[in-house]
Amino acid sequence: ARILVLHGPNLNLLGTREPGVYGAVTLEQINARLVQQASELGHQLQALQSNAEHELIARIHATREDGTRFIIINPAAFTHTSVAIRDALLAVSIPFIEVHLSNVYKREPFRHHSYFSDVAEGVICGLGAEGYTLALQAAAHRIEEN
Ligand code: DQA
Repeated sequence: ARILVLHGPNLNLLGTREPGVYGAVTLEQINARLVQQASELGHQLQALQSNAEHELIARIHATREDGTRFIIINPAAFTHTSVAIRDALLAVSIPFIEVHLSNVYKREPFRHHSYFSDVAEGVICGLGAEGYTLALQAAAHRIEEN
């Protein structure tokens, strides 16, 4: 099945961006690992990173036509601001898992609220890049169950 991974703003800088918080792994490395893992599980994975809210929303809308069965999303800073991305996910009604590299609960209070968590299938945070592989594993299980 088709699985979509969405990465929000500034995640294109992974590897050099606050490595103490976000780790040394680059987004390319994360995506390459996920594509590989998905194909081993018999699925096709596509990833998109954007710094623009409207591009993430447009990609979510496009899932209505491309057969996407599951979404894994790290909305990054949009986690704490974007009613619009939340509404897009609800509009297409495709199940999703929310991932954060850092443990947002250890950080500033403004990172403790998410516009996504109450409508996500699940939330993974604080486990670094491993969070994405765990999310993909869970997504694959859920696709098999349905
Ligand atoms: C993040 C946490 C957000 O608070 C932050 O704005 C990010 C990344 C994470 O993966 O830990 O850009 O989503």
